[in-house]
Amino acid sequence: MRRLTENKLVIASHNQGKIRELKTLLDPLGYTLLTAADLDLPEPEETGLTFEENARLKAVAAATASQLPSLADDSGLAVDGLNGAPGIYSARWAAPERDFGLAMERVYKELQSTSPHNPTARFVSVICLAWPDGHVEYFRGEVEGAIVWPPRGDQGFGYDPIFQPDGFDITFGEMSADQKHGWTLGQEQALSHRARAFKRFAEECLEG
Ligand code: IMP
Repeated sequence: MRRLTENKLVIASHNQGKIRELKTLLDPLGYTLLTAADLDLPEPEETGLTFEENARLKAVAAATASQLPSLADDSGLAVDGLNGAPGIYSARWAAPERDFGLAMERVYKELQSTSPHNPTARFVSVICLAWPDGHVEYFRGEVEGAIVWPPRGDQGFGYDPIFQPDGFDITFGEMSADQKHGWTLGQEQALSHRARAFKRFAEECLEG
């Protein structure tokens, strides 16, 4: 495992929800953060067939263009009754208008017609850290839960209002950012998929 010795890092994302979450996680650690938008980096097409491949495409493109270590997250909602869909296509289900109201309705309707009694699902996040020389490291985080209907809560982003993590009676959409990541739960384990992947990254890769 290569450790990160530089204190400047690019967040290779154009997704404001993710950038906000990653900044919340990285800011306290004292890193100088630049985003793909700050550097005017193009958004590579996500042609991979796994979360790992897509995270790598984004991280390597940013590291090559910026000549700085770059961190990308590829994530999505995997619903068991839909054979893991929308999965790596989670953002695309909301395209072209990025309408997550419609995307959430599609999840619910398809689940109703295929597997109405099986609401189990998980959020998956794979963080890829790429260096300008092409070296990469991966960190995966998952959180188990269930699809609920109707959507509840207006915090967070994407599919948060229809995802209720196991052990809670509120959705990610009803949680504050601190609650969603698990920092206020008084538990060692992070809660959200991204916070879990991030925790691995911090433990295995950061100095200190
Ligand atoms: P991508 O990783 O940029 O391809 O997009 C991931 C998509 O998965 C997002 O646009 C959201 O639709 C969904 N997603 C990923 N993480 C979360 C989350 O924490 N809450 C809600 N939706 C998420």
